[in-house]
Amino acid sequence: MKRNFLMGAAALAGLMTLSACGGGAGSDANAPAAEATTAAPAETPAPAETTAAAADGAAGGATMDFASMTTDAAAGEKVFALCRSCHVLEEGVNRVGPSLHNVVGRHSGIVEGYNYSDANKNSGVVWTPQALYEYLKAPQQYIPGTKMAFPGIKNDQDRANLVAYLQSQSS
Ligand code: HEC
Repeated sequence: MKRNFLMGAAALAGLMTLSACGGGAGSDANAPAAEATTAAPAETPAPAETTAAAADGAAGGATMDFASMTTDAAAGEKVFALCRSCHVLEEGVNRVGPSLHNVVGRHSGIVEGYNYSDANKNSGVVWTPQALYEYLKAPQQYIPGTKMAFPGIKNDQDRANLVAYLQSQSS
């Protein structure tokens, strides 16, 4: 900021000097300074757009990599609050949804005594961290026809933290 201000001030001084000699030279002198001043804010949206594009790609089922995320399992425990109304982690305890005991690494649709939809039962999914990370973004897209009435967690970091938490609870 300070630097831009100084550059602007210098340009202004230049402009004042040059404009005394003629308008054309003065506006030329001003041009680079104007670019320098706007360069920083103009660059800022670029990485944000890249991220948004990546997220869009992910929503479309393209690359979305759990392994590349830095996760916080303790924060993920708080996100698990979103699941507790329907799931518990205790073995053999099914609520609206099946027990999530040892869910990481588990094959889909195999909890005893739980009445799965055909969609979930026949999905063939193995609940790897990556599969959970993708599934929990938009369950009905990942397993069309699932009866899990949950819209998904759109925030990649929250979702990754949750998966890390589930991982920490699975053996
Ligand atoms: C509104 C209730 C509800 C909520 C909230 C919910 N689920 Fe589910 N979940 C279900 C139901 C019902 C199923 C069984 C789906 C089927 O059989 O089609 C299920 C299935 C699953 C499965 C597949 C289990 C298997 O054995 O194949 C996983 C994994 C899962 N849920 C994780 C989660 C997580 C993690 C959360 C929190 C982010 C969550 N669910 C939130 C109801 C819910």
